[in-house]
Order: sequence, then structure tokens, then C-alpha cells
Amino acid sequence: MSAASGALGRLVISRLRTRAEVVAVVRDPARAPEGVAVRRGDYDDPASLRAAFDGVDRLLLIASPELDTARRIKQHLAAVSAAEEAGVGAVVFTSFLGAGTVATGLTEAYHATEQAILAGGRPYTLLRHPFYSDAFVPQVSGGEITSSTGGRGLNTAFRSDLAEAAANVLTGEGHLGRAYDFTGPLWTYPEVAQAIGVTYREVPDAGPGPMSWLSAQVRAGALEQQSPDLARVLGRPAKTVAAHLLDQRKLGAQG
Ligand SMILES: NC(=O)c1ccc[n+]([C@@H]2O[C@H](COP(=O)([O-])OP(=O)(O)OC[C@H]3O[C@@H](n4cnc5c(N)ncnc54)[C@H](OP(=O)(O)O)[C@@H]3O)[C@@H](O)[C@H]2O)c1
Repeated sequence: MSAASGALGRLVISRLRTRAEVVAVVRDPARAPEGVAVRRGDYDDPASLRAAFDGVDRLLLIASPELDTARRIKQHLAAVSAAEEAGVGAVVFTSFLGAGTVATGLTEAYHATEQAILAGGRPYTLLRHPFYSDAFVPQVSGGEITSSTGGRGLNTAFRSDLAEAAANVLTGEGHLGRAYDFTGPLWTYPEVAQAIGVTYREVPDAGPGPMSWLSAQVRAGALEQQSPDLARVLGRPAKTVAAHLLDQRKLGAQG
């Protein structure tokens, strides 16, 4: 598993540890998760990736957090080439919703990577992620939740569920040659407010920035795509944001 020291990688490892022999590939071994074999593999250093992927049966290629698209594509293509040269049994890539068809903007690097994986001819599974719910959990302030989402739906999913799905794909059968569109159950901020018994207030955008861009996407309905793939791979529904908040409140009440 590459980029194994990140938030998603650590969650996948926690779910895989007892089910498979895991190798954590990290750019800085000092940051490696504990309790698994570690190899150094840096997306900016193709030779390190080639050595790190040696003998790997199923590689989970976790997308790079690099913001510069050209550099990110170079990193991903280096990883795909290294996987081919090392002869890994299968490449499982954490892609993004829409990357199968949209070659520009947010999905440009994901699209280029998917195309390289398909062209490479090795067995693969594409896990097209939605935005992570973790970044969208609303704060309750003064007894209310606010947002600029116009009450439209979000198909986000928690990293923990996406990690469990990745672990199921890596250890299960019947996933090769498939592209999964992972979406969480559709939710809205007003519904979440109602579920936890607080009021909802629509507010104007905070001004230029990534969250304003995202809110505009939500208001335009861009996050309302639904697919059964995540629930199928999990064997259960993915966790909702309302359930997450209610769990947090229960824990708070106990603590
Ligand atoms: N769907 C979404 O909403 C969403 C949100 C955020 C990110 N993402 C994508 O999903 C990926 C996983 O998310 P996350 O939450 O686990 O991100 P994260 O916690 O930021 O972890 C990023 C990982 O990438 C590693 N990395 C950075 N540069 C590298 C390089 N040159 N070579 C090898 N590894 C490198 C980091 O290593 P260090 O520990 O050494 O820094 C870390 O392990 C992200 O990288 C990003 O592509 C998706």
C-alpha cells in the first residue's frame, strides 16, 4: 500500500492487519504505521517505487495529495509504471467520482491515472471516491447548524467506510476489472439538523476559498449522484453524517 502513513492508509491497515500480510510503502519510514512491514517508496522517486512494489500481490495505490496537477500526474504514472515493472498481481487505485469520463479540472489527474492503469494491462480495480464526509461534518454552534448548500444533497462517505471497502476489495474475490463509484447515502444539512434536534439556517458563502467552491458545487446538485457500489462492497449501508453526530453526542454524554 502506497502513501500508507496518511489518514486513509492507516485506516486501511487497521482493517487489513489481521486479514493479510501488509507492506506499508511510505516516503518517510519514520512516519510509518506500527506493526506492519515497511518499505520506502516516494512518488517523486520512481526507483524507490520499483523496489518497494517488488513481490506485491495486490497494490493499493492511494492517490497523492500533491496539488499541482502536472506533478501529481507524473507521480501517479511513475507508480503505475513501477507496479507494471515489478509485476504486481493487481493495482487497486483510489480514484475520484467522475474520473472515468472527465479529463479536466478536479478529476484530471485521476483520469490520467485510470487511463494509464487500463493501458498497462495489469489486473486492476478502480475505487472512485466521493468527497470525504469527515470534512463536511457540521459544527453545532449556538444551537444551530449553518451552511450555504441550499438544502441540496451530498453523497460524501467517511474515510473509515472507504478504508473498509478498500480492505474488502484487497482481500476479496470478484473485484478485478471493475470500476466502483463509491457514494455515501445522500444527506442534506437541514435533514441532519432535524435528526439531531437543532435548527438549520442557510447563510451566504464565506467568500472565495475551497469551501465556497464546494458549497457552490453542492447547490448546483453536483454531489447528488448515487450508486449502490459502496454499500455492496461493505455488505451494509455506509455510515451517515447524522449517525456520526448522534454517536459523538452519545460519547460526549458518557464522557
Ligand atoms: N475524496 C476526498 O475528499 C479527499 C480529500 C483529501 C484527500 N484526498 C485524496 O486521498 C488521498 C488520501 O487521503 P488522506 O486523507 O489519507 O490524505 P493524507 O492524510 O494527507 O495522506 C497523504 C499521504 O500521501 C503521502 N505522500 C505525500 N507525498 C508523497 C510522495 N511524494 N510519495 C509518497 N507518498 C506521499 C503522505 O506521506 P507523509 O506521511 O510522508 O506526508 C501521506 O501518507 C490524498 O492523498 C488525496 O489524494 C481525497
